[in-house]
Amino acid sequence: MAELIVALDFKDAGSALTMARSLKGAVSWMKVGLELYTAEGPVIISSLKDMGFKVFLDLKFFDIPHTVQGAVRSAARLGADMVNIHALGGERMARAAMVGCAEGVAAGQKTPIVLAVTMLTSMAAGDLPIAGAPGPSEMALDLAGKAKQYGLNGVVCSGLEVAAVKTACGSGFICLTPGIRLASSGTDDQRRVVTPAQAVRNGSDFLVVGRPVTGAVSPKAAASAIIDDMRSVK
Ligand code: C5P
Repeated sequence: MAELIVALDFKDAGSALTMARSLKGAVSWMKVGLELYTAEGPVIISSLKDMGFKVFLDLKFFDIPHTVQGAVRSAARLGADMVNIHALGGERMARAAMVGCAEGVAAGQKTPIVLAVTMLTSMAAGDLPIAGAPGPSEMALDLAGKAKQYGLNGVVCSGLEVAAVKTACGSGFICLTPGIRLASSGTDDQRRVVTPAQAVRNGSDFLVVGRPVTGAVSPKAAASAIIDDMRSVK
């Protein structure tokens, strides 16, 4: 059963935790990204964990292998349930991330899921500043194959690419998909967008949704509408 993760893209802990509290019971995963983590640091993770949420720490590490190994080790020590790196960092960086993850896990702690970002869902054809580059979906599929080969647990890709990724990498290879919008809502800065039902139909394991939930008059009702759409898939 696919799970919804709500992106807490807020400027401070107060707003983020108020939102998380309002979603308690409807959603079990929260995502902490660059804005919130940069503002508040590790304590935001323990606050969400203390509230009973699973936490995806979405910092998209991309650096030399030694640095990424240390960053993933620290993220695992913080108790993050899921972390991510960029697939474009290549094999040595990816393998170092997996070593760092194992090093950071405390005895009895569940090992975090480590995903590789393929192509950001905000990118459309022509957005990659590389002359002659293949289209984003083609790049995403290629990078997913590499991520699998490097020993990662799965990828972040758009819902448009999930079916092909699962065919190429196997059903157990996790696909997490941002760029989710109900047919009735706008797409903001996202470009490779699908509905919750389409993402689930294509095989997505985790759907990340931010603004359509956190910007709604009733975030809990908005999250429920997304979950209803996900569950409409037979
Ligand atoms: O508000 P919206 O639903 O567009 O938020 C999507 C979230 O997913 C953001 O927090 C963004 O950082 C994240 N994300 C993404 N595309 C990726 C990886 C993460 O949109 N490839």
